[in-house]
Amino acid sequence: MYIKFRWLLILLLVVGYVGAFAQNSPVKSVGNVRNVTINGQQINITTDNAFAEVTVYSPNIIRVRMDKQQLPADFSYAVIAQPQKTKATISQTQSEVTIVTDSLKATITKSPFAVTFYTTDGKIINQDETGLTTSWVNESVTTYKHMQDGERFIGLGEKTGDLDRRGNGYTNWNTDAFGYQANQDPIYATIPFYMGIHHGLNYGIFLDNTYQSDFNFGASNNRFSFFGARGGEMNYYFIYHKQVADIISSYTQLTGRMKMPPLWSLGYQQNRYSYYPETEVFRIAQTLREKKIPADGITLDIHYMDHYKVFTWDKERFPDPKKMTDKLKDMGFKTTVIVDPGVKVEKGYGTYERGLAANIFAKYPDSTNYTGEVWPGWCHFPDFTNPKARLWWGSELKKYGEDGISGIWNDMNEIATWGQKMPDNIIFDYDGRKASNMQTHNVYAMQMTRASYEGAKVAFNKRPFVLTRAGYAGLQRYTAIWTGDNRSEDSHMLAGVRLLNSMGLSGIPFTGMDIGGFTGGATPALFARWIQIGAFNPYFRNHTAVNTKSAEPWTFGEEVMEISRNYISLRYKLMPYLYSTFYEATQTGKPVMRSLAIDYTQDQNIYNTQFQNQYLFGSAFLVMPFEGGAQFGKVYFPAGKWYNLYDGAVQAGGEQKLIEVGMQKLPVYVKESSIIPMQSLVQSTAEKPTDTLMVHIYQGAQNNNYTYYEDDGESFNYENGAYFKRLISYDAAKREIAFAKADGALKSKFNKIKVMMHGFGNGAFKMNGKSINMNDDFVSFLNPLSKFDPQGSANATEGEKVKSIIIKNNGEAFSISY
Ligand code: NOJ
Repeated sequence: MYIKFRWLLILLLVVGYVGAFAQNSPVKSVGNVRNVTINGQQINITTDNAFAEVTVYSPNIIRVRMDKQQLPADFSYAVIAQPQKTKATISQTQSEVTIVTDSLKATITKSPFAVTFYTTDGKIINQDETGLTTSWVNESVTTYKHMQDGERFIGLGEKTGDLDRRGNGYTNWNTDAFGYQANQDPIYATIPFYMGIHHGLNYGIFLDNTYQSDFNFGASNNRFSFFGARGGEMNYYFIYHKQVADIISSYTQLTGRMKMPPLWSLGYQQNRYSYYPETEVFRIAQTLREKKIPADGITLDIHYMDHYKVFTWDKERFPDPKKMTDKLKDMGFKTTVIVDPGVKVEKGYGTYERGLAANIFAKYPDSTNYTGEVWPGWCHFPDFTNPKARLWWGSELKKYGEDGISGIWNDMNEIATWGQKMPDNIIFDYDGRKASNMQTHNVYAMQMTRASYEGAKVAFNKRPFVLTRAGYAGLQRYTAIWTGDNRSEDSHMLAGVRLLNSMGLSGIPFTGMDIGGFTGGATPALFARWIQIGAFNPYFRNHTAVNTKSAEPWTFGEEVMEISRNYISLRYKLMPYLYSTFYEATQTGKPVMRSLAIDYTQDQNIYNTQFQNQYLFGSAFLVMPFEGGAQFGKVYFPAGKWYNLYDGAVQAGGEQKLIEVGMQKLPVYVKESSIIPMQSLVQSTAEKPTDTLMVHIYQGAQNNNYTYYEDDGESFNYENGAYFKRLISYDAAKREIAFAKADGALKSKFNKIKVMMHGFGNGAFKMNGKSINMNDDFVSFLNPLSKFDPQGSANATEGEKVKSIIIKNNGEAFSISY
């Protein structure tokens, strides 16, 4: 009796102590559940210290919101999807609430509030860390997740570092990171979406909160991963699918997908800080043509403006912009101009005066306009979170439409100012909600690109090309993004590859980096390698800083120029494939540049830091980036069969191999069963290729359903059916190829299709039901570099022998003759 009493006393003391500790603790935990209300697909919960809302968004997505106060009305710049009507069973007992959909199960324990996600057969996918769950320190809110055995983490957008982010921590605070270190964090953009992988399961978590956010993937701890923000709600979307590609698809269903870009923006873009006056612009354009280096874009950096004032031209350097852009168009070039958000405070300067009159600048709490210093001097900054400001920006862009501009490059939009420290107390409209700089900073750039995209769409009366340096989740709806001021170093080139792959994992398909490096100067070997890799990047732009040595391909000598020409030419021949890959991204969110973690998630080798830079470009090409000077390199071939792009040699999957990686050739392999549409060489996308589409088909053990897509490349008519789309399928076991009936109102620009069969040997195969027995009808595919010739020229003697067959493309009769 006495002993029992003693234990009771001890228990009371402990409970009392813990209670007192919790009361005095600077950390406020979510606590126990007090009340639960179930409203259809939504559960509203009151806990000791918080209010929570858990919503079934789809069978695969569950959203969790929590705040210390009653949750405010819902608002997001990132998420554009509403919850789908979903079959879900929600029930509760004394101890927990359970949600079951067709794809997953979730439980919310009541003491304390903690969430666990399971597969429908009861495997734990993700769970709150017992004892820590979600808590607040002042206004900072963090959710702690139990670290699963062997858990890996991928994604999180524009983040430096390894493919597998385990063991690292990251901060999201958009930063002007001039000449950043290859492992610096944060840099320019915030995409708070990552995926976890363990025990053969994958999930995604998107923290939709625009305050500074922090992620820890087991940095210096083995217990948990966490995500949190310095203010606002805990607001995350949990996504579960069996395949990583489907998680990206659900994520981009929430945050939106890109629209078809203008075709010309997939061509090679020539840049520097800065080309001026216009005679220099013409010299560059003319040299590209003379040297037969295909190109589509010339970009004008800040020196085109009058004293860096946005929406002006330096009249001496560029006396007649319209005449210049017209002439460039005649030469097959589109012009992109840079725009910075800073509007110079200067009496009589039109943009400034109109901005003042429209009252659209970001303000201090005392209603004076915020002033910061950047290129033009002292500036005000449009509040792009104000719909009025976005419209105003669009009306300023009209002039560029009249000047014949085709692309808008949004720079310095973190916001970058000299000294970099914008005060917290600047007030933004936040679409009528009013928010401080602390909440707005990370989303400012994305709203700038929204204003640019929407404005340019009207001003150019065509698909605009929009590029940005900074951004927030969902930016893919408006813009492409590049990785800012990198350095001319091998480590940067490879870090850049991982940055682009990581952005692809995070819903952004249109990405690029400054080829050759922005600061410093590339060696010829580095430049050659970088341009080879650039040919397999979604956005392909050569750029370099002011006061650096010229960095156009011909400035590195004959050999590098030839390598550049070869790879840029290959890119142009691949344009039908690239365009179809972009189309796929608009439909599914699957990126153009694909980390191997998408298709080979469970293959542990791909996370090995030796192989982590390898990626797929679209569905077919396995690209293996290496340093500029490297002669030999170790590569890894994931499962399947691979064909050497240059000679067709077959390579088995699941193997590591030391291969030659000299300066002439970037190692690239074609995945078995691939279908690759190509065209004849053109010098820009404005030039018509021959009327024959070359469809390369590689024998393999897997089936393939490939969608070929074409449209006019510049208008929005495709949204109303003006496209040409055809499913091309390959049945491996039956050796059958089928070209389905074309879909859409447009005629193809290719009247004929030449089908080129790789690795099929001499045996028979079927095409659209017709049995074909090929024998000696050989042509050559991709020859050694100096003779790249996918059309198969008569005098090509080297390279793989492939078989070709010609079929009619347009017209209702789908005829095959050979
Ligand atoms: C910074 C950008 O990152 C860079 O690409 C550009 O050349 C300079 N600003 C000058 O506009």
